[in-house]
Amino acid sequence: MRRLVLVALALCIALPLSADFRTRRERLAGKLEDRVLLLFASTEEEGQNAMGVFRQNNDFYYLTGWNEPGAALLLAAAKDDRPYTEILFLPGRNVTQERWTGPKLAATDAGAARITGFDRVEPLDRLRDELVSIVPSPRGTVLTDRTIGEIPIAWLRRANAFPNYVRLADARPVIAELRLIKDAQEIALIRKATDATVAAHRAGLRAIRPGVTENEMAGLMEYEFRRGGCQTPAFSSIVGSGANSTVLHYSANSGTIQAGDVVVIDIGAECSHYASDVTRTLPASGRFTPRQREIYQIVLDAQQAAVSAFQAGVSTIGRDAPDTLYKVAYDVIEKHGLGRYFIHGLSHYVGLHVHDAGDGARPLQAGAVFTIEPGIYIPEEKIGVRIEDTYLVREDGSLECLSCGAPKTVAEIERAITSRTPAALPTRSRRR
Ligand code: GLY
Ligand code: MN
Ligand code: MN
Repeated sequence: MRRLVLVALALCIALPLSADFRTRRERLAGKLEDRVLLLFASTEEEGQNAMGVFRQNNDFYYLTGWNEPGAALLLAAAKDDRPYTEILFLPGRNVTQERWTGPKLAATDAGAARITGFDRVEPLDRLRDELVSIVPSPRGTVLTDRTIGEIPIAWLRRANAFPNYVRLADARPVIAELRLIKDAQEIALIRKATDATVAAHRAGLRAIRPGVTENEMAGLMEYEFRRGGCQTPAFSSIVGSGANSTVLHYSANSGTIQAGDVVVIDIGAECSHYASDVTRTLPASGRFTPRQREIYQIVLDAQQAAVSAFQAGVSTIGRDAPDTLYKVAYDVIEKHGLGRYFIHGLSHYVGLHVHDAGDGARPLQAGAVFTIEPGIYIPEEKIGVRIEDTYLVREDGSLECLSCGAPKTVAEIERAITSRTPAALPTRSRRR
């Protein structure tokens, strides 16, 4: 009993979720017309990352900020007699499960609406009835992220929640359109993730030298993510030295850095669900060889050309899209006869996912966050160079590099490594 009281107290004093989630729901409702949105949280099993930590699916989190499993969201715009409707459905308490994964909020707990920021919070058992009452007949459309045959849609079908006239359509493109333009809270979190990632790159500059393992480098940089208030890497950290620098998504990090290597370091922190993505390529010995420097400078020129060509409302990031920045960067690399070694796209959006949702053919608008990341990979020379920064399109249409605090020019990088004092280096790892 005392435990239950404590749990109830903990839930009651939980901070309410920010009003931004409500604003996002209202904006989405503005696009629904007479369609109804039905989204599902991840289940406990679906939401577990490789470390067993629950992480909500991105669309559900974007609209609710709710990071507990098994919930559902019903959303409808005001239409004729129907008022704007938003209901968060929560599963009932499972006290046995809570012994393993901690207390969860139930709809019947005191303060559920205040804590979640929803107009209404109902038990999940109510979903069927609420859905039936809200879907307009005779030809209502339900936007959802699940397909027929998938639980819980199959369950709702069996429960006759969907009369035959109801059509299901994919909610994801509608939500992706909103997620493309970040609001102030999202931008603040991406900045925080990026600051931690820049700090990690600075730690990498202090630690790099022949004899250090790729894995040790990854570990000490990921520590900076946590020191910066972030929870986890947004993707598997890539530390690729020598030949490994030419493998795009090398994440085994099983090699040891050798004198003369270039080392591609592609890392990004995740802060409160938001990612960053920043790559630097460093010379293990502190100075690039002439050939490494030549390749490095071409990649840097390609990135700078794309930045200079950027025009808000015109430029795109899709590889084959009109006015794409990809072609600007590719042309710089191909001018040196190296186009065949630039083997990936130039850019992707960044947000709740490191490769965030959104149409690459859409002209970039204020609030878009994306990478510019040209690269040249020459396996026969064991030289891979990628330079990647995360950019924000500001309200005035200019481009802000969020990650350019990480040294980037040849001179900056060489100076950062060669001017270190020995005390700055970590002690050598014992296993070789
Ligand atoms: N870190 C993965 C990428 O650059 O897209
Ligand atoms: Mn990237
Ligand atoms: Mn990256």
